[in-house]
Amino acid sequence: MQSILPGECTPEASAGRGTAAVTGAAGFIGSHLVDLLLAQGHRVLGLDSLAVGYSAAQKRANLREATANPRFRLVVDDIRRARLAESLSGVDTVYHLAAKAGVQDSWHDSDIWDVNVAGAQAVLSAALTAGARRVVLASSSSVYGDSATAGGARALSPTSPYGATKAACEHLAGVYARRGLDVVVLRYFTVFGPRQRPDMAMHRIIESTRPQGPAFCRRGTGEQTREYTYVSDVAAATLAAGTASRAAGRTLDIGGGCRHSLNEVIAAVTAIRGTAARVRGVPSAAGDPQATVADGEQARLVLDWAPATGLHQGLAEQAAWHRRAWAAPPAQRDHDPAATSEQNLAAATAAF
Ligand SMILES: NC(=O)c1ccc[n+]([C@@H]2O[C@H](COP(=O)([O-])OP(=O)(O)OC[C@H]3O[C@@H](n4cnc5c(N)ncnc54)[C@H](O)[C@@H]3O)[C@@H](O)[C@H]2O)c1
Repeated sequence: MQSILPGECTPEASAGRGTAAVTGAAGFIGSHLVDLLLAQGHRVLGLDSLAVGYSAAQKRANLREATANPRFRLVVDDIRRARLAESLSGVDTVYHLAAKAGVQDSWHDSDIWDVNVAGAQAVLSAALTAGARRVVLASSSSVYGDSATAGGARALSPTSPYGATKAACEHLAGVYARRGLDVVVLRYFTVFGPRQRPDMAMHRIIESTRPQGPAFCRRGTGEQTREYTYVSDVAAATLAAGTASRAAGRTLDIGGGCRHSLNEVIAAVTAIRGTAARVRGVPSAAGDPQATVADGEQARLVLDWAPATGLHQGLAEQAAWHRRAWAAPPAQRDHDPAATSEQNLAAATAAF
C-alpha cells in the first residue's frame, strides 16, 4: 500500500532530469547513499516500503536529515507494486538496493525469492521502459559462497538461499543488459557503521555490552573471517558506480580491504566500549562461509575508489551511534534496542 507523508510524494510525480532514484532508500546502506547524493547536489527520489526487515521507526530515523531536504522525495511503496516506470520517468541513475538482506533468515523465508528477484526484475524493467541511463544493482559477497577466499576460484557458488537470490539478480542484470540497459553490479562485502541492520553481528555485539542487552550468540569458533566495509565507503563506491563511464556493464567487488575474525570484532567492541561484550557460543550455521575476501583492484581501477575507514575507526563511529540511541528518549531514538533483543536468537550469526 502506498502512503504519502511530509517529504513524500506520489509515484506519479515527475522526478526531473538529473535525478537519482534509490530503492531501499530508508535502509542501512540506502540512507547513507541518499545522504551522500544530496550532499553532492543531486535530486533524489527514494523508494521504500518501510515494511521489510526491521522497524519502520528506525528507517524513518535513517532519513531524518534527508526528509528535511527539498531535493529529496520519498515514495513509500513496494517496488513490486508501485507504478515504477512512471516514478522513474526522467530519472538518470537508478540505485537498486531494496531487498531482504541476510543469510540466516533466508533458510526459512519463502518470500525472499519474490522480494529480491521479482523486485529486481520490476526495477530493471521499469528502468528500461523509463529510459534511465544506468542501473546500479546491489549484490553481495554471498554470491561467492566459500569461493571468495585468498586464491579462491571466485565463482558464483552461493551457499544460502539469500546468496542464490543475489546470483539470480545478477543473471537478470545480464538479461536486461542484452536489451540495452547499462547495469553495474556491486558485490558488497559485510558492511558496518551507524544505522547497521539490527540482525547484523556488529550491531548485536555492541548491544550486548549494555547491562540489559542480550548476549551475542556467536556461531562456531568465531575464527571465521570477513572483509568488513565501512558504510560511507560503500556509499561512495556506489555513487561512483553510477557516474564513472568506465563502470558501464561491470561487476565489481566492494570490499573494505580489512579482514578480521568475529573474535577480533568482539575484542575490538570490548576495547571501544570499555565493557566486555557478552558472548554465548552456539553451533556454526549453514551457509556461513569460513572467509570472504574481495578483489579490490577492479573497483580501484574502474571507480577510482579505495576504502578510507578501517575496522576500529568505523566500529567507534557505530558504537557512538548506538550510545546516542540509548541516551535519547524512546520517541527520538535512531534505533530500537528492543528490536535487537527480539532478533538476537533468530538471527544468531553475521548477516552478509
Ligand atoms: N549490509 C550488508 O552488509 C550487505 C552486504 C551485501 C549486500 N547487501 C545488499 O545491500 C542492499 C541494502 O542492504 P541493507 O543492509 O542496507 O539492508 P536494509 O534492510 O537496511 O535495507 C533494505 C531496504 O529495502 C527496503 N525494501 C525491501 N524490500 C522492498 C520492496 N519490495 N519494496 C520497497 N522497499 C523494500 C526495506 O524496507 C529496507 O529499508 C541489499 O540489497 C542487500 O542485499 C548488504
